[in-house]
Amino acid sequence: MGGFYLEEMQKSGKWDIAYICDSNEGVRALAKELSPTSIVTGNEDDIFNDPEVKVVGLFTLADLRKIQIDKAVRTGKHIIAEKPIADSIEKEWDAVHAAEKSKGLSTVNLYLRNSWYHNLIKKFIASGEIGDLAIIRICHLTPGLAPGEGHEYEGPSFHDCGMHYVDITRWYAGCEFKTWNAQAVRMWDYKDPWWLQAHGTFENGVVFDITQGHVYGQLAKDQSHNSYVDIIGTKGVCHMTHDFKTAYVELRGVNETHIIEEPFGGKNIDILCDLFADSINAGKLHPQLPTLRDSAIASEYAWLFLENSRKNDLPAIGDHETLEQIWERRRTMSEGYGLLNKHAQACSGICS
Ligand SMILES: NC(=O)c1ccc[n+]([C@@H]2O[C@H](COP(=O)([O-])OP(=O)(O)OC[C@H]3O[C@@H](n4cnc5c(N)ncnc54)[C@H](O)[C@@H]3O)[C@@H](O)[C@H]2O)c1
Repeated sequence: MGGFYLEEMQKSGKWDIAYICDSNEGVRALAKELSPTSIVTGNEDDIFNDPEVKVVGLFTLADLRKIQIDKAVRTGKHIIAEKPIADSIEKEWDAVHAAEKSKGLSTVNLYLRNSWYHNLIKKFIASGEIGDLAIIRICHLTPGLAPGEGHEYEGPSFHDCGMHYVDITRWYAGCEFKTWNAQAVRMWDYKDPWWLQAHGTFENGVVFDITQGHVYGQLAKDQSHNSYVDIIGTKGVCHMTHDFKTAYVELRGVNETHIIEEPFGGKNIDILCDLFADSINAGKLHPQLPTLRDSAIASEYAWLFLENSRKNDLPAIGDHETLEQIWERRRTMSEGYGLLNKHAQACSGICS
């Protein structure tokens, strides 16, 4: 993720990348190549202790985030954080409270909120074209990161990746979750579920279902995915799907129909960085940008749905041998879903 931020910040012209920090030698060598004018270091305190640095981007894994958020608050930096903002819900709430007391601004990369398609659909709902919002259906199934491949601090797939969908569902509903029921499966006999479907209600009566899993044809010769959103109102409907290159949106209201195809936009890091730079100049967080509180809420509900799934049978299907085949295939994959960090891998091989 650090590499994506570097690329977008370099393109935007609004950022001066003073430092890049990574504990991995291979990643530091790459950073020096990609950003020769930055100071590349293995010691994060070089950055926190420099009074010239206005903003820190916290993109390591979740176990370090809370410590780094505390350092950023103590040294008066603005914060761009990856999600989740810590590796336990208690620490996430502590991070929220620390950031909310700070004079600095902070945001989290809940990237769906910065997508053109979700903002367009939300505007269409607000125009009254689909009547009253009633049902939110979200599905995201890819081969993706397999169990045990890293991101262990981020939790099982429904937490690591699924919290984005929990967040965007809450964003559409515009209020808090009220009830939920979750079914999951422990694929390949892994200790945690790798597919989960949750459904339930919001305080305002809107109902939802979320399906997420990195289980979609891991060993298929030609891999694919299934990702969509259905927003159903009392009168009309919105539908979105994508192939990671193009997003397809159908807005079917009582007076208007729009069928739109536009570039997907990936993780929308360009938009996040632009809006955050503008926020700093304005002294106020742009309303589109999610807060640390939004991230803690999404994380907390993703954990609650996982906890609920453990009470609902939670069967195990498949065996460890199949998981080993998946790991083996993904180790050498250069095209596909949720690819592994080759630079860090290469160096841990050399260093260990
Ligand atoms: N918002 C999103 O859509 C999205 C997508 C992918 C990942 N993420 C999040 O971004 C974070 C990073 O994910 P990733 O896939 O880039 O992981 P990664 O493992 O590829 O990268 C993490 C980097 O942090 C470095 N690192 C580890 N400990 C360090 C330390 N003490 N000091 C400095 N550097 C250190 C590692 O060497 C590595 O280069 C995760 O928390 C993940 O949840 C978010």
